[in-house]
Amino acid sequence: EADLNNKLPLKGKKILITAGPTYEAIDPVRFIGNHSSGKMGFDIAISAANLGASVILVSGPTHFTVSNSLIEVINVVSAEEMYLACHQRYADVDVAIAAAAVADYKPKNVAKQKIKKAADNFVIELEKTKDILASLGTLKKNQFLIGFALETENEIENAKLKIQKKNLDLIVLNSLQDQGAGFGKPTNKVTFIDQFFNLEPMELKSKEAVADDILNKVIAHFEKLR
Ligand code: CTP
Ligand code: CA
Repeated sequence: EADLNNKLPLKGKKILITAGPTYEAIDPVRFIGNHSSGKMGFDIAISAANLGASVILVSGPTHFTVSNSLIEVINVVSAEEMYLACHQRYADVDVAIAAAAVADYKPKNVAKQKIKKAADNFVIELEKTKDILASLGTLKKNQFLIGFALETENEIENAKLKIQKKNLDLIVLNSLQDQGAGFGKPTNKVTFIDQFFNLEPMELKSKEAVADDILNKVIAHFEKLR
């Protein structure tokens, strides 16, 4: 149980958070992206700062801004840039939370000039991006590592596989089953699954409240270490 008398339970802790989508360039004016708003990651950053943590927020393109002396924002565009920013800071942090919707594939070749309309059909060859979270899992020393999972089938089973593959301590499974949850919505319905595969389904609630729940897990982790 968290120490409720401690007003700033994460004071002195450093937390790396990824947020938002990534944009993968096709040519100078086009990209492949997704509908992530970045809200979940920004809400986690604000909750963490309110609990006293120093936050490094690595964000893909979003309309959110934050002005908080405890939050350093690093703006990135592509998965590769997000990967580099995270790796520059990871050795230094106590916790990493990957809330970004990173593109899984990017165009293999980026056209130097705007691609002109020509043939009726047009194919863009894609290659995998680096899995940022899996890489952080490989490099993990003492960091408490939290990932998200978005699944539309075999949710629990797939989320458990991600815990193992990415060497996570906790995964936050997003339920798309629920009407009010997900991309562009103010609410989320999540299930926590820990490294021992303990399941904790949460109620549908605001993303701010989900952020608080996630940080309570972080606080509980440090309480256990004391
Ligand atoms: N993630 C990441 N880097 C990537 C892809 C995903 O850091 N290149 C992180 C996400 O931020 C999230 C977790 O990995 O915390 C799971 O993302 P998700 O898209 O659910 O899983 P994937 O491993 O990409 O597998 P798939 O999309 O095939 O389900
Ligand atoms: Ca993915």
